[in-house]
Amino acid sequence: MSVHPSAHQSAKRPAMTMHSLMKMYSEGEKITMLTAYDATFAALADLAGVEVILVGDSLGMVCQGHSSTLPVTLDAMRYHTECVARGIHKQNGRPIILGDMPFGTYATPEQAFRSASELMRVGAHMVKLEGGAWLAPTVEFLVTRGIPVCGHIGLTPQSVNTLGGYRVQGRTDSAAQQLMQDALQLEQAGAQMLVMEMVPAALSGDITRALSSCATIGIGAGVDTAGQILVLHDMLGVTQGKVPKFAHNFMNEASTIQDAMHAFVRAVKEQRFPVNELHAW
Ligand code: KIV
Repeated sequence: MSVHPSAHQSAKRPAMTMHSLMKMYSEGEKITMLTAYDATFAALADLAGVEVILVGDSLGMVCQGHSSTLPVTLDAMRYHTECVARGIHKQNGRPIILGDMPFGTYATPEQAFRSASELMRVGAHMVKLEGGAWLAPTVEFLVTRGIPVCGHIGLTPQSVNTLGGYRVQGRTDSAAQQLMQDALQLEQAGAQMLVMEMVPAALSGDITRALSSCATIGIGAGVDTAGQILVLHDMLGVTQGKVPKFAHNFMNEASTIQDAMHAFVRAVKEQRFPVNELHAW
């Protein structure tokens, strides 16, 4: 099966690198990130101009039908990362592939290096880990060994059992201060991107402004982050069960999946998505 170029397809663009991504960040251009788990959707995201494809462990919920991300294995992440890498190489080959490290695969720096190497070997360019300051030594260990790292703070779904549910984080002063410290320490350790999930918009704006070498990517975190991510199934309106309040179904205003992805990219670039009113937490 091939993915036909849409009317939106631009001429073949150079592949993104960490260098070009950080240049976009320093120039203030909003970064677009979307999850994908297979070759076809990865190719469509590439054609739509998405800069970073996250092979998220959300695949445990949207592809495997689990009720959390905890059952996802490194083997599953390796398989889906490889599928995504094949998909984008058939198209422009432009996005950065961000491989999510699943639960229980980065408890020590050494274990993290072994797990991350597996994902890099099948096509990931960068890996994502969930957690705050406690992960800083692991981030430094990976970065020193040639593995770019994206952090993930706020609502960290792999910790749903300690957080007591999928709820907004950083609401109290002390929780907000902790998130700020987490972000600063992850940046100091060498993380170049930081996903912030379900964090009050004002706090994520403060964190974004406090960082200078780490691009924040928001999901349910307001407009002031350096970029935005959505889970593919949420933005296509096909999520089964509860849909996060912050998600937007871009198929509402589109006639094809390709158009919806394009609309997402444009809305993020033009700062029309998200709208802060949806983030009244
Ligand atoms: O796994 C995933 O899709 C994620 C996003 C929600 C950021 O981590």
